[in-house]
Amino acid sequence: MRAAHVVEPCADRPVEALRVGDLADPQPPPGWVGVDVRAGALNMHDIWTLRGVAGRPHGGPHVIGSDAAGVADGRDVVVYPVLPTAPDGRTVTHATLLPDAGHGLLAERVVVPAGHLVPKPAALSWAEAACLPTAWLTAYRMLFTKATVGPGRVVLVQGAGGGVATAAVGLAVAAGATVVVTSRSPAKRERALALGAAVALDVGDRVPELADVVVETVGPATFAHSVRSTRAGGVIVVCGGTSGFTAQLDLPRLFAREITVHGSTMGSLDEFRALVDYVDTHGIRPAVDSVVDLADVRAQAARMLASTAFGKLCVSLT
Ligand SMILES: NC(=O)c1ccc[n+]([C@@H]2O[C@H](COP(=O)([O-])OP(=O)(O)OC[C@H]3O[C@@H](n4cnc5c(N)ncnc54)[C@H](OP(=O)(O)O)[C@@H]3O)[C@@H](O)[C@H]2O)c1
Repeated sequence: MRAAHVVEPCADRPVEALRVGDLADPQPPPGWVGVDVRAGALNMHDIWTLRGVAGRPHGGPHVIGSDAAGVADGRDVVVYPVLPTAPDGRTVTHATLLPDAGHGLLAERVVVPAGHLVPKPAALSWAEAACLPTAWLTAYRMLFTKATVGPGRVVLVQGAGGGVATAAVGLAVAAGATVVVTSRSPAKRERALALGAAVALDVGDRVPELADVVVETVGPATFAHSVRSTRAGGVIVVCGGTSGFTAQLDLPRLFAREITVHGSTMGSLDEFRALVDYVDTHGIRPAVDSVVDLADVRAQAARMLASTAFGKLCVSLT
């Protein structure tokens, strides 16, 4: 089977570490099933794997990918990509992905735990369905578990072109919230408005109304603006730091406004089922930047590194 994989990670030139080639079909352990993948999508996690930071891909071909939609036993499915762990017996974390455990999903044939399959919404294309497992699940938990987004709420989404950001816009608009976005790119701001955002600002611009909830994926480039833009009692939910991992925090504003900052990672299987149902019920179509054949996956990885995409960078395996 063809698979996107890494043999030797490269911290400085991760795209060059990405290979496409034939690997042996994986064999399902007991309780796991095979899936013929029709489409996948890239995430920053894949870039970290290519850099050698996530998944520790040493000593052999390591298939990347945490997004897949495909066919299992004749059923059209999307794959829940998390292996939940409960390190202290109480707190379940969602930080271990199938590729971290050696079961990457960007291949023609993959194996996953049987309980990780959720029916694919019929209205979605394969590529659209492949957007859901990582970025969209992350956005869903940020908005609806770590915050309470609904009608009358103002939601600020930083870095409007991103995979998580476009998901947050789509989900928050469907929930009836007023969505404000920021983006460095005028073209991406236009596209965010077309997705239903009410206001699109340049990075750092003053928001017309302080936000109840801020979706923060960008990190130091936007974090001070996120704190400035949150109303008293509001919530900032952080799932990543595309521009870096160390941000300054305006402590007086944080405590004077009694702002809550939540970390958030992926989501539970129940949240994934709820997300898929939500997308189906509300007729939401994930924003897909582009779809390429698996052979051209390096071009998608380069686009992800350059932050030029609007929406998800998808890969077809049909
Ligand atoms: N914790 C989790 O479970 C989880 C899950 C998924 C993703 N993440 C993390 O979340 C982050 C976003 O992921 P993604 O898949 O949405 O990434 P993405 O599709 O590559 O989007 C990143 C966005 O960040 C913005 N950006 C990048 N550099 C910027 C800068 N210097 N200044 C301002 N904006 C900048 C860009 O928006 P504009 O071009 O529109 O300005 C870009 O579209 C990553 O750090 C990723 O690792 C975490």
